Amino acid sequence: MKDNLYRNLLNLAKKVCRNSYSPYSKFKVGAAVLCGNGSVFCGTNVENVSYGLSICAERAAVFNAVSNGCKEIKALAVYSPKGNITPCGACRQVITEFSKDAVIIYNINENEFKTAKISELLPSEFKMVEEPKS
Ligand code: THU
Repeated sequence: MKDNLYRNLLNLAKKVCRNSYSPYSKFKVGAAVLCGNGSVFCGTNVENVSYGLSICAERAAVFNAVSNGCKEIKALAVYSPKGNITPCGACRQVITEFSKDAVIIYNINENEFKTAKISELLPSEFKMVEEPKS
């Protein structure tokens, strides 16, 4: 059952990947976030001629979810045509902010995928002494 859920989420990430704006790297990425209330929000990487201003697909998807009122991440699927990519360090920290045990789903090729817990990918995230209030 979970297998189907993960496949569906990965398919949404694949679909949105088409909208990737990546003229500099030519590396297209799509992401889909499954939120606590069951809704899904997507994002792609968006690059800029001033390279450092570019954003990864995962953060674009998480910011989209939060902007729409969802602050709990259950799962995040990331798709790239080449396969085998997991969120970068910055995205891992951002995902951790909204979930301690989110499942990350990523494609290996067009038919296979793998999963990992965000806590495995980022076992020691940055924390402030106090927990945020909201
Ligand atoms: N990128 C993502 O969107 N997600 C990742 O997990 C890794 C990298 C983007 C950033 C940049 O636009 C391009 O892929 C090449 O690094």
